[in-house]
Amino acid sequence: MDLRSEMLGYTVSINYDSRLYHHDILGSQAHARMLCKQGIISDADARLICDGLTVIEREIDDDKFPWDASLEDIHMNIESRLIQNIGSTGGKLHTGRSRNDQISLDLRLYTKDVIGTTLLGIKEVQIALIDLAAANSKVIMPGYTHLQRAQPVLFAHHMLAYFKMFTRDVGRFQDCYVRADVMPLGSGALAGVPYPTDREFLASELGFALISTNSMDAVSDRDFLVEFQSAASICMMHFSRLSEEIVIWCSREFGFIRLDEEYTTGSSIMPQKRNPDFAELARGKTGRVYGNLFSLLTVLKGLPLTYNRDLQEDKEGFFDTVDTLLATLNIYKGMLASLQVIESRMSEFANESYMLATDMADYLVNKEVPFREAHGIMRRLCDYCETQGKELKDLSLSEYHDFSPVFDDDVYNITAWSSVEARNNPGGTAPGQVEQELNEAKRIMEGKVDGS
Ligand code: ARG
Repeated sequence: MDLRSEMLGYTVSINYDSRLYHHDILGSQAHARMLCKQGIISDADARLICDGLTVIEREIDDDKFPWDASLEDIHMNIESRLIQNIGSTGGKLHTGRSRNDQISLDLRLYTKDVIGTTLLGIKEVQIALIDLAAANSKVIMPGYTHLQRAQPVLFAHHMLAYFKMFTRDVGRFQDCYVRADVMPLGSGALAGVPYPTDREFLASELGFALISTNSMDAVSDRDFLVEFQSAASICMMHFSRLSEEIVIWCSREFGFIRLDEEYTTGSSIMPQKRNPDFAELARGKTGRVYGNLFSLLTVLKGLPLTYNRDLQEDKEGFFDTVDTLLATLNIYKGMLASLQVIESRMSEFANESYMLATDMADYLVNKEVPFREAHGIMRRLCDYCETQGKELKDLSLSEYHDFSPVFDDDVYNITAWSSVEARNNPGGTAPGQVEQELNEAKRIMEGKVDGS
């Protein structure tokens, strides 16, 4: 490669910012209408420009647009094509505008649209979680701490925990929308423009809630992209945790779930294997999404006001995050909807009587044994079981009595189900509580309450 083309290659962004074409054209058409309304360009010129832009949009839609890398970016490609198609009138479009406020506008319009798509995607995942919870409302599974079997919980409770996480994600993306919803056009290169523009008109034409009120901030602000990527990172972190559980759960060791074949792949040499690749990849891609957030923060950290070309580096990572997040939402919707719960396996582990040691300690407490003492009794009982190769439920009453005289026949009434039912405080795993949680989740989905 000769030096000239290498240098051009260094500055060019059209290979990735071309995806902004729709929003760029939307902004340009509104700008032309505004220039006309303010008497800055004529009616006829505005019409020619707007129609010319519509033709260009169609050319791009139909893959017929002559992209030219030497024009560097999406703005220059469209503008020069416009001049080529409609003549010198096309050169009037950039009156009272700079690429600096133009790119900010394009990115804000694009981000707002993407947030809309993201929210719909999260909603579909949440509905899949609700359906899974509702369809398995009586399934008991072992709940874990430290990845050690801890206490029985309802599978629905576990699924609804993820529902909660995604509800908070919705709140974060909505919050980011508010920050993106500010119209920067009219800031010019950095100081404003010397034309009698109507920025409120532009905001209302383009569906923005507010106009920016400091031109220097407006052309250099990328906070909304940082916020989007933070929200996306947290959301992917949630998917990554869910992925980890799915990977574990569909192992032979656990055997709690079966993934639909579509969401697994075979091994090239081990015919018995069904690998949970999609869950693994979601977990892996989360790393890249974090990286994109950090690269943008790093690009921004040393920038003096106002626009600096470094800002062009805001896009690739952002677009990659958008694509990764939307694809993950889509994949997960289907993966959850087709996931099979293996109730027998979950309940086998949940009913293992070690899991009920806390309940037995609580049982002793109900018979006036101080909790610390009860805990010690159960600890010793568990150790005894281990040395005897027995489970708690296999012990005779006289064996129980060796540890505490307080034990009675009713100790055998303690089961996984009674354990779950006992946790009947708000937020607990008792069936009644989980049913309320499920109803609340459904109300959030219907938009009747705000869960964020
Ligand atoms: N392609 C540029 C970007 O993405 C557009 C703004 C260019 N402005 C400039 N003064 N060179 O940031």
